[in-house]
Amino acid sequence: MINIKNLSKVYTKGNNQVTALKSISLHIEKGDIYGIIGLSGAGKSSLIRCINRLEEPTSGDIFVKNINLVGLKSKELRNARKKMGMIFQNFNLLHSKTVFENVAFPLRLIKTPEKIIKEKVNSLLELVKLQDKAHVYPSQLSGGQKQRVGIARALANEPDVLLCDEATSALDPKTTKQILKLLKNINKEFGLTIVVITHEMEVIKEICNRVAILEGGYIIEEGATIDIFSKPGNSVTKHFVEHDPSLPDQYIKGKVLNLSFTENSAGEPLISRLTKKFDIDVNILSGKIEYIQEKPIGKLTIQLNVDCDQLLAIVSFLEENHVKAEVLK
Ligand SMILES: Nc1ncnc2c1ncn2[C@@H]1O[C@H](COP(=O)(O)OP(=O)(O)OP(=O)(O)O)[C@@H](O)[C@H]1O
Ligand SMILES: [Mg+2]
Repeated sequence: MINIKNLSKVYTKGNNQVTALKSISLHIEKGDIYGIIGLSGAGKSSLIRCINRLEEPTSGDIFVKNINLVGLKSKELRNARKKMGMIFQNFNLLHSKTVFENVAFPLRLIKTPEKIIKEKVNSLLELVKLQDKAHVYPSQLSGGQKQRVGIARALANEPDVLLCDEATSALDPKTTKQILKLLKNINKEFGLTIVVITHEMEVIKEICNRVAILEGGYIIEEGATIDIFSKPGNSVTKHFVEHDPSLPDQYIKGKVLNLSFTENSAGEPLISRLTKKFDIDVNILSGKIEYIQEKPIGKLTIQLNVDCDQLLAIVSFLEENHVKAEVLK
């Protein structure tokens, strides 16, 4: 659905240059809910705004449904953009227009007949459960309701792709969950491809099937959310995944391992087999269950008194049994 190749973005102001994106390549499949996560300044907004050319890429190509947006003239670009809805952190609603008129706005721009506007807007308001708010103004709505108007408006032109730039960052956790659930339903019901920009791993865990981690304009890690979450390969990724609060050093002797159990490994008495097979004691430091798109991942931090050779053998044994093991210490 979206294929980004060697995308770079340099902002130039006078003699000042800021390189926001450095040779980004990404592939987003139809029906993906694709997360892009990174710290402030990592380049997330630049990336998502380059996808619909709200921001001009400095170099590289952006294919959406096999059409390269880079190089499109204004009329073709306008048509391509119609198939890409976008929602924003601060909702970007028109304050002088009612909810109905906000959602109708993109349809009026393309001179849709009044009767169709009525039908479409009403069905969109039903989809986002705001039928009863059609004639109120944005200032009378809560944050979650405003974002639902934003979503309805973004869907008005029946887009193939929905781009979300920090769409839940201004909302409380409960409202965030409701909006994420709505996005997921829309993704399922219409097969809509969704790109989610966020700095919150909770958002990624909740709805994204794939995730890219952006740092300093580079993609430093990319993969299925479940893989990234169970074995983050990079320190920035670890910062987001934060699978265990750091344990006070004085309590930790020997080797410390972080284990991630997924569905394939949940039914096995693995710790008990580990202690027998290697004739060792295992001290459990912490444990919890996390849910990634409703799939459980068990997280266990264990401590062992073993040498390096034994540790390597233990890690292989665990991995053979579908448990991801990461040596913390
Ligand atoms: N219009 C602009 N002119 C100059 N520099 C810019 C502009 N927009 C962004 N930048 C710079 O590009 C880099 C990436 O910014 P960007 O807004 O893409 O980051 P972000 O990951 O979205 O951050 P945040 O989480 O704070 O929204 C930053 O160094 C930023 O200062
Ligand atoms: Mg941003």
